[in-house]
Amino acid sequence: MATTYADLGEEVVGREREIELLLAALGAGAHVVLEGPPGTGKSTLLRAVAGRQHVPFLFVEGNAELTPGRLVGHFDPAQVLSQGYKPEIFVDGPLIQAMRTGGMLYIEELNRVPEETLNVLLTSMSEGEVHVPRLGAVKAAPGFSFVAAMNPYDSVGTARISGAIYDRTCRIAMGYQTSEAEDRISALRGPTVPEQWRAQVVELIRSTREHSDVRVGSSVRGVIDLLGVASQLAAARSADITDWHLGLDAATVALSGRIRLHESCSRTPEEVVRELYEGIFGREPKEDDGDSSGEA
Ligand SMILES: Nc1ncnc2c1ncn2[C@@H]1O[C@H](COP(=O)(O)OP(=O)(O)O)[C@@H](O)[C@H]1O
Ligand SMILES: [Mg+2]
Repeated sequence: MATTYADLGEEVVGREREIELLLAALGAGAHVVLEGPPGTGKSTLLRAVAGRQHVPFLFVEGNAELTPGRLVGHFDPAQVLSQGYKPEIFVDGPLIQAMRTGGMLYIEELNRVPEETLNVLLTSMSEGEVHVPRLGAVKAAPGFSFVAAMNPYDSVGTARISGAIYDRTCRIAMGYQTSEAEDRISALRGPTVPEQWRAQVVELIRSTREHSDVRVGSSVRGVIDLLGVASQLAAARSADITDWHLGLDAATVALSGRIRLHESCSRTPEEVVRELYEGIFGREPKEDDGDSSGEA
């Protein structure tokens, strides 16, 4: 349990404050929800911290298929036929494993988990115990904790769960990273590109979050993809990665699906991406240097 944020620097860029808060909450025996837009490093942070907790760590992807049975476990049907419902033939699901071992249950995208499954989780948190039909009560061993990442923009229904979940958990808000951190993350996760140009790409992605037509802008994932697409295009076209048209093509591919425009906006995402691109890289260069990448 002697984890400090200094140990995590190789996996997690920045986020010293969030790491410190998360460790304090876990140290206090609290359950924790990390909440923030996609791409703000919630999974990166939770994985790095969870991996160092020296307790069993159960990872679960939150989605519509996460039924109570999947979370809790089930009786092996073949063995039920021959032996009946004996406790020995119960196959523990991740929740029961974490409870029995005093481990950490980590759920990604908590907002996508179906209501009935959330109810089981809520009981485990508030009672420290769940009742499994035909198996009986399973008590949580000391140390059992629950951490989850949650995206407030996911329309699947954060509001639906908020009250009950928030009442039983500590919440750490994750906002977008600083531009300096986003640049370091892109350098770490993306291909090697000229630094000055990469810094401009980071500014471009950040500008998607400020545009008045955009409801949800791009995360640092947009930078990583843009750099990747641009470097592939540069190789395919034998062109310089900093080529204006190449950059616009890469930006359009990487960003037009990522940015979410307001319902009332009559423009296309491509038009908005181009406007933002011109804001950082300037207007389309006039003279044609023979490069054919500017086809509309
Ligand atoms: N602080 C960070 N340090 C290192 N990589 C990061 C950081 N934040 C984000 N990333 C990278 O950005 C991408 C998205 O991060 P992720 O943790 O999956 O975000 P989230 O879970 O909030 O959607 C991943 O490729 C991840 O490696
Ligand atoms: Mg995630």
